[in-house]
Amino acid sequence: MRSEIGLIGLGVMGQGLAVNMAIHGHRVSVFNPTPELFDEFMRGRAALYPSIEGAADIRQLVDSLECPRRIMLMIKSGPPVDSVISELVDFLSPGDIIIDAGNSHFKDTIRRTRELAARGLLYLGIGISGGEEGALHGPSIMAGGSEAAWRSVENILSDIAAKAGGTVQCSGYLGPDGSGHFAKMVHNGIEYASMQLVAETYHMMRCFLRMNPEEISDVFRIWNTRRLQSYLIEITSSILAHSDGSTGKPIVDMIKDAAQQKGTGMWSVFAALELGVPVPTIAAAVEARNMSALKEQRERASGILAGPGLSSPVSVAEASRKGQMIEEIEDALYASLVCAYAQGFALLCAASIAYGWNLDSGQIASLWTGGCIIRAAFLNQIREAFDRNRGLCNLLLDEFFAGEVASCQDGWRSTVAAAANGGLPAPAMASALSYYDSYRLQVLPANLIQAQRDYFGAHTYERIDADGAFHTHWPTGRERPAG
Ligand code: 6PG
Repeated sequence: MRSEIGLIGLGVMGQGLAVNMAIHGHRVSVFNPTPELFDEFMRGRAALYPSIEGAADIRQLVDSLECPRRIMLMIKSGPPVDSVISELVDFLSPGDIIIDAGNSHFKDTIRRTRELAARGLLYLGIGISGGEEGALHGPSIMAGGSEAAWRSVENILSDIAAKAGGTVQCSGYLGPDGSGHFAKMVHNGIEYASMQLVAETYHMMRCFLRMNPEEISDVFRIWNTRRLQSYLIEITSSILAHSDGSTGKPIVDMIKDAAQQKGTGMWSVFAALELGVPVPTIAAAVEARNMSALKEQRERASGILAGPGLSSPVSVAEASRKGQMIEEIEDALYASLVCAYAQGFALLCAASIAYGWNLDSGQIASLWTGGCIIRAAFLNQIREAFDRNRGLCNLLLDEFFAGEVASCQDGWRSTVAAAANGGLPAPAMASALSYYDSYRLQVLPANLIQAQRDYFGAHTYERIDADGAFHTHWPTGRERPAG
């Protein structure tokens, strides 16, 4: 019997997806360009599942599939995807389906959709989140591209996807061409922001409150039973409770403080800049990773640049306020996370309009309630907010979230102020507060920016009391309508 689907790419994610499909009773053919990995998988994990069939090359993989052929790529994004596609197309017929399940850039997906459509092939760009565990036990799946292709693979992908709370299906078709990969990119932008925000709260407890990793782990464990309940809080609690096998010290103290990245956070920021959507907390998180990577420079600068010292013992006043400060930090983290998700959803909303995708933000929130890295209890309230108002342009305008953030304000402000006064960087948290304040202020100092632009470049400005563009001849102060 022929296989229902083919899978190219047997890295950790590809292997997990193949096994997940087999567990759900699907017949899957697999191929990997490097034979060592292929042999290891076929002799190891795949041997337990008769419905996983190995293919020696791409032609054999294609020949092993029922029609229309469905082939999923789980390979490194960029040129490798184009090169595998160009090899594949010679063996495919009109109506066959290629599914790119890697972290491809959405513009590549738009291009590939068009190129393959010209050859009669259907293309799906799907974002898959959940890491190794998710791929095996149920990831979140964001599909974009040909709707007919989605209908053809929907049963397989729905079977392998996460079911949040046992019932909510965490997979779905979002819209045309690059929309699935765009949603995954925004997911990762929010992931970067959330990770940075969590790291900043850890840093505050560590440096201001002199708490050790184990104590901080307990705090995160408690937070995870409340409104901050989320996968990232859960794993952070677990990480902080881990000791290093060789030294016995907390493992976190043995890990070099230089964060790496594969680029999807940066892509989110680029896309936001292109669309004119402010995402300062996502940008701050990307930049915090860039700053962390300057380890050697930071070591030199620490001996040169003045600022409040972090090594002084905790003051009596601070010690007595410890419980209260932890509560304030919790409020600050929650409000900042709401802002980060608000920025991500605002970006999705702008892209939906710009690219004509007609995205349903409530559906995306729902897909993210299970399986993915940014799954969080409050995504249920985010879904409800978009269900209440499908046209909601910013989560902060929703009554529930406006109230939530308002109630966190005092703790949020004092936490950011304490970080600034104490010389502790909190770029993501400070940017989130500044985003909130910028968004809620009716008047920003952009009037002065406009005047400056007009002064040095005659770029003109609008008035608040009359329509049209105006220019001032600044040496004389004479204003005239521009035109
Ligand atoms: C996921 C993750 C995943 C991502 C890694 C590493 O949703 O499963 O987002 O797709 O690639 O988290 O990303 P960085 O190396 O950029 O941190």
